[in-house]
Amino acid sequence: LHVIHIAAEMAPVAKVGGLGDVVTGLSKSLQKRGHLVEIVLPKYDCMQYDQIRNLRVLDTVVESYFDGQLYKDKVWVGTVEGLPVYFIEPLHPDKFFWRGQFYGEHDDFKRFSFFSRAALELLLQAGKKPDIIHCHDWQTAFVAPLYWDLYAPKGLNSARICFTCHNFEYQGIAPASELASCGLDVDQLNRPDRMQDNSAHDRVNPIKGAVVFSNIVTTVSPTYAQEVRTAEGGRGLHSTLNFHSKKFAGILNGIDTDAWNPATDDFLKVQYSANDLQGKAENKAALRRMLRLSSADVGKPLVGSITRLVPQKGVHLIRHAIYRTLELGGQFVLLGSSPVPHIQREFEGIASQFQNHDDIRLILKYDESLSHSIYSASDMFIIPSIFEPCGLTQMIAMRYGSVPIARKTGGLHDSVFDVDDDTVPLRFRNGFTFLTPDEQGVNNALERAFNYYRNNPESWQQLVQSVMNLDFSWDSSASQYEELYSKAVARAKAAGH
Ligand code: ADP
Ligand code: GLC
Repeated sequence: LHVIHIAAEMAPVAKVGGLGDVVTGLSKSLQKRGHLVEIVLPKYDCMQYDQIRNLRVLDTVVESYFDGQLYKDKVWVGTVEGLPVYFIEPLHPDKFFWRGQFYGEHDDFKRFSFFSRAALELLLQAGKKPDIIHCHDWQTAFVAPLYWDLYAPKGLNSARICFTCHNFEYQGIAPASELASCGLDVDQLNRPDRMQDNSAHDRVNPIKGAVVFSNIVTTVSPTYAQEVRTAEGGRGLHSTLNFHSKKFAGILNGIDTDAWNPATDDFLKVQYSANDLQGKAENKAALRRMLRLSSADVGKPLVGSITRLVPQKGVHLIRHAIYRTLELGGQFVLLGSSPVPHIQREFEGIASQFQNHDDIRLILKYDESLSHSIYSASDMFIIPSIFEPCGLTQMIAMRYGSVPIARKTGGLHDSVFDVDDDTVPLRFRNGFTFLTPDEQGVNNALERAFNYYRNNPESWQQLVQSVMNLDFSWDSSASQYEELYSKAVARAKAAGH
């Protein structure tokens, strides 16, 4: 199959969170399975340009329509992680992708509806004939209505559209009139069975539009797919998802096991594997030295947390876990940052309270290299999410032998199984879980983890080895996407498209 992803993130060049990891990991896995995979991204000024090979500008100048005018876009091509990537640089006076950050601009709706249209324009003008166009999250959700309304009639009509929603919290809702900028027909689309938001009639909802207009709709774990079909979990879209349930599926993400591999990871002081955990102990010692944490007690358990500090992640429970870890005699390292100013300030306060403490360190920034060191150095990894579509950090942590302590929700429910849960086969039990997202839940799981670690060092070592050997690669998930793609293509052929 020929698959083209249109996305706002791709690791490691343009990554804010898990979306970037998924676009790269899924694409690499599909490519390995013999498919032709290409990716279209905005050309952000703040990308990691050193991670792009052979970046060059193409002769093709794409003319894209916006606000009633045609703008010329420069198109660049390069290779990221062995994948061909097109980068669109709009020559629009608003300098949409020249802002020093990926998201969070006042005109994000404009920036990304512009990009969605420019990406389709590129595919049309470059004569691409993909079988699947796969778009992700609200930023590229516009692709679905744009494709059927404007681009299929122009001849870009070989494709089926797959849309993956990585988080129904972010829907990109905006006044209906804003749709007109990218050439979509507001009157046609601002209708209850199309893009109109389910709770405000003068607003359009890009995620709803993608659910309605795509051939395949997925989200990133089976449990989250069920949660969002309930009034409580669907963020206003449960009825739409239930109406379109035949094309909706939950597929658990994988992780890129080449990028996240303790045996080859260049970010680590010492590389190691499940058969030789000495290196893990050395990385713990190295991190303690680097962060000026006490090394007096070699066996003191180290709890890690690497996360965006947003309410979804249970920030109040993370804060609680820091204090509880201290009471239990452990060490805690948090790496995270928040787009929410009051949360960032609150954690800055905690960071400065503990800045010279022996056992607690908070590092409030985004730091790829440090994240690898923390995954490898920590004994346990806490993820007390209020909701979690999939979550990748629990899988990465396990790959590095850090045992997850997680709230049972969404993808955490599908990937973390309590050591005491006898409904699950022993070999799949891999962590400590709790159901109710409150301090008691955290205490219970954290205390059980500490007791296990302290009272049964040998069993703990076996647990560490067994979580490192679990398979969280993309293989099985990519084959599920492949099956959905193939069925959609076959249905289109049978219908004579
Ligand atoms: P989400 O996408 O909701 O943020 P995921 O668990 O799916 O959560 O993915 C988070 C990804 O971002 C992981 O690869 C994690 O290592 C990374 N990450 C999160 N915060 C930071 C940070 N402060 N520094 C480095 N990497 C981070
Ligand atoms: C979103 C979700 C996270 C998921 C990631 C990748 O950011 O919050 O749970 O793992 O997307 O799909």
